Amino acid sequence: MKKARKVLSSTAWYDSPLYYDIVYQDYTRPETQFLEAIARKHGPVRMGPLRILEPACGSGRLMESLGRRGHTVHGFDMNRHMLRYARARLAKAKIKGVTKLGRLESFRCKTRTPYDLAHCLVSTFKYILTERGARRHLQLVAQSLRPGGLYVVGLHLTDYQQSVPDHEQWIRQRGGVRVQSDTWSDIPNRQKRTEACRTRMCVREGGKQWKEETHWDFRTYSPGELRKLLKSVPQFSLIACHDFHYDIRRKRKIDNRYGDIVLVLRRNA
Ligand SMILES: C[S@@+](CC[C@H](N)C(=O)[O-])C[C@H]1O[C@@H](n2cnc3c(N)ncnc32)[C@H](O)[C@@H]1O
Repeated sequence: MKKARKVLSSTAWYDSPLYYDIVYQDYTRPETQFLEAIARKHGPVRMGPLRILEPACGSGRLMESLGRRGHTVHGFDMNRHMLRYARARLAKAKIKGVTKLGRLESFRCKTRTPYDLAHCLVSTFKYILTERGARRHLQLVAQSLRPGGLYVVGLHLTDYQQSVPDHEQWIRQRGGVRVQSDTWSDIPNRQKRTEACRTRMCVREGGKQWKEETHWDFRTYSPGELRKLLKSVPQFSLIACHDFHYDIRRKRKIDNRYGDIVLVLRRNA
C-alpha cells in the first residue's frame, strides 16, 4: 500500500470532490429538510420556491438537493475542483444553478433579486480566520439577502478546557468507492483563536488503496466569542438556535452544553 501523502494545505482534500461528497452524503437529506423547515417557519417566503445562496458550496450536494425541490440555487467556492464538480452535477440533474469562484471574506454578489435564504453548514464558517473577515462575511451575506431573509450557519463550538485532540471518523461507500475519513482537531489555542485540524482520507477504488492528509486551521468560537461576533453585526438578529440533529423542534441557546450549533440569523429591515 502507498504511504500516506502529507499535504500542507487548507483545502487539499477538497481537490477530490467525489470523496468529500461521499463522506457527507448522509447529511444531505436531513440538512435539506431542515433548511426548508426553517424557511417555512421563519422566512420571508413561507410557500413556494426560494432563492438560495450557499457560500462555500463545495461539491454542490445541497445545491443539487435543493434545486431538485424547485428552489433557485446559487453558490460560490474558492476551490475550482469543487466548482467544476458542482457544475457538472447540476447540469446532469438539469438544474439551472449558478456557481462562481469567490471567497467567504470578500465575495461579490451581483444578483439583482436578493436571496430569501443563505446557508453555510458543517463548520465551514470557521475557515474565516479573523474577526474582521468573519464580520465582513456576515455583512456581505446580509447585503445579498432581502429584509427578513435568513442565514443558517452551522459550526462546532470550541471547548477551551479540551485536553486531548478530538477525533471523528466517517466510513462511507458509493458504487465501487469506499472512503474512510478521520479528522482530528487539536487542543485549541485560545490566544491565537485557532485549532489545528487534520483529515486523513483513506480511499479504496478499483482494487487500489491510498491515503491523503490535509492540514488546516479553523478559527475557534466559545459561546461568548460567538455572541460577541454576532453583536457586532447589527444587520442580523439571532432568532433561533438548533444543533446538528437538524430537528426544528429541538432548540438550544448559545452555550457550552453541546458543541454543534446551528444559528438562524434574520436580516433586519
Ligand atoms: C466542509 S466543505 C462544505 C461544502 C458545502 N457547503 C457542503 O455543505 O457540502 C468546505 C468548503 O469551503 C471551501 N472554502 C474553504 N475556505 C474558503 C474560503 N475562504 N472562501 C471560499 N470557500 C472556502 C472549500 O473549498 C470547501 O468546498
